[in-house]
Amino acid sequence: MTTTTLDEEVERSPEEAAFDAIIDADSRVEPRDWMPDAYRKTLIRQISQHGHSEIIGMQPEGNWITRAPSLKRKAILMAKVQDEAGHGLYLYSAAQTLGITRDEMTQQLIDGRAKYSSIFNYPTPTWADMGAIGWLVDGAAICNQVPLCRASYGPYARAMIRICKEESFHQRQGFEILLTLMQGTAAQREMAQDAVNRWYWPSLMMFGPPDDQSPNSAQSMAWKIKRFSNDELRQRFIGMLVPQAEILGVTLPDPNLRWNEDTGRWDTSEIDWDEFREVLSGRGPCNAERLQRRRDAHEDGAWVREAAAEYARKQSENAQKAVA
Ligand SMILES: [Fe+2]
Ligand SMILES: [Fe+2]
Repeated sequence: MTTTTLDEEVERSPEEAAFDAIIDADSRVEPRDWMPDAYRKTLIRQISQHGHSEIIGMQPEGNWITRAPSLKRKAILMAKVQDEAGHGLYLYSAAQTLGITRDEMTQQLIDGRAKYSSIFNYPTPTWADMGAIGWLVDGAAICNQVPLCRASYGPYARAMIRICKEESFHQRQGFEILLTLMQGTAAQREMAQDAVNRWYWPSLMMFGPPDDQSPNSAQSMAWKIKRFSNDELRQRFIGMLVPQAEILGVTLPDPNLRWNEDTGRWDTSEIDWDEFREVLSGRGPCNAERLQRRRDAHEDGAWVREAAAEYARKQSENAQKAVA
């Protein structure tokens, strides 16, 4: 052991030691436990971004509710979009336990200061996009989120358990939409393939930059918020897609995709990280539209918030009168 480590050990406060013990034991940190500021900040950022992604993520599919091809498809799509609203709310609640308010988070989103997953800034021009989003986007979300059910922060981990159950329904409904189209006419098959072509690469980008360009990952892994690296999760996702694409009869749009016996990994073409950075920094095809829509919805809902606040005020006034 080096002197530095010894010095650090001496300087560690009892609170820090208790926090480290929770992490080492694979136990959960709860809202009232002491935690390092950087851990709290990282979680607030990650959970609120995740919540924003669920909320903005309702828009690309909301676009098709009124145009779903049958009553059954409409009912399923409505349920799915409603689930995403629920995911946003669980996540905002989890973030609130760390000391940020819902209003602050909403303000950060509508001011354009908060990030959300870049995937939701792509358009949904055809019905097949509903299939491709469910299969690829919700599929990538599952790969990312299943390990988060064991994240070290209790409220986040518990929210993820229910979210993951619903995501797996979303993934299967997307797969089933594509399967139906692939068993249909030539035009329907072409529409399904076109949607897969457009969503495949952005879905691979959902795992974030390559490991050697992901500076915060190591700390998140040490805190056991993150359990697997971006590239490991991306590999796992590709491994899940390949046999499913075969059943569907769709082609994954990467001529270089193949299993490499020597490395035990999937070889792929280079991901276009310039596109990722462009979309993430607000210059994607639908960024402005998505944010504007969220802003309008917030303004349209002002009367609901005012009515709820007024109702709560009257209730507490009545309660006080009853006590007096
Ligand atoms: Fe979700
Ligand atoms: Fe979902």
